[in-house]
Amino acid sequence: MLSKLSRRASQFSQCLVSGSSRVRAVRGPRNVPAVQAFQVCQQRGQGNISAPLAPEPPFPTVRSMPVSSRAWCGQSPDPVTAYRRRWEECFQPWSRSPSIQRELEEVGFSIVPGALTAIDVDELLQELPWLLEGGPVTMERQNKGKGGYDYLRHLPVKLAVLREVAYEALLPIADAFLESHRLELQSSRRTFSLNTTGKRFDTLPRTLLEFEELCAKKGQTRPSNLFLWYQEGGENRAHRDVYGEVSFPLQMVLMLDQHGEDFDGGKFFTLVNGRKHEATMNRGDLLIFRTSCLHGCTPVLPVLCKKTQTKHETKRCVLGLQFALRQLLRERRAKGYR
Ligand SMILES: [Fe+2]
Repeated sequence: MLSKLSRRASQFSQCLVSGSSRVRAVRGPRNVPAVQAFQVCQQRGQGNISAPLAPEPPFPTVRSMPVSSRAWCGQSPDPVTAYRRRWEECFQPWSRSPSIQRELEEVGFSIVPGALTAIDVDELLQELPWLLEGGPVTMERQNKGKGGYDYLRHLPVKLAVLREVAYEALLPIADAFLESHRLELQSSRRTFSLNTTGKRFDTLPRTLLEFEELCAKKGQTRPSNLFLWYQEGGENRAHRDVYGEVSFPLQMVLMLDQHGEDFDGGKFFTLVNGRKHEATMNRGDLLIFRTSCLHGCTPVLPVLCKKTQTKHETKRCVLGLQFALRQLLRERRAKGYR
């Protein structure tokens, strides 16, 4: 079993690096890929599998990850150009809407509904087990709630391009929030600085690649995108995702399960000026929220089958998409950062 998994994982990562990734769609019920990804995480979390997918040193960083679309250029057909066009069409009308900035200011989040189709989500869940670092963490152990998460070694090209396009589309809004982001982080005793030796930045870098290079200069070299999963009773207490001195004022979360079918409750929430704001997310929805806001997930409840009145398997899986790379806590503490 282990050798089979390892073989498949190495085959897949070779495909990703060579750029000839082909995801084989597994036919079956809609939730099969989600269950597979979820079960692999659970098994690895329980130590049943000795982390066959763990990355080997040197750890993947911005330079080795296929984050930049440039790594995929020159191919025929060029998937990057097609994805870029698609995400630009998705983001530009949304980011130009005058109500978005107000929404982000007042409630801390805004939703791009149905950013991913059902097929996109199925494909993603199919790939996920082979993209995870292999070091799942239980939230209970960190007193963060009840559930689990694992970081992704890198994103599939579709999401890597989405992240690049989103960075550029969100940049004007992020610029507008930069000062309040700085003040809110400082008031929560977090360090925030975009400056590096000999260089002072008053604005955010114009591209994601430049932003990641800035992160790397500050010692933040690890990918910070993560897969989170919750079962019945799962929850995520209010927290902030700040992994070093460099942070981006906005971050994203992608819903992979369907509210009302796979889970009930499980609402994304923010705390803005002491007030709680909740969002109900559906499968494929992309939620953008302010990084400086305390946020989390309300308790996940089971859903009863309308026909049989029996409980479905309760699961609420999301993908956290961050722009800033991360630095390990012990590395941050060693430097005296908070
Ligand atoms: Fe978070």
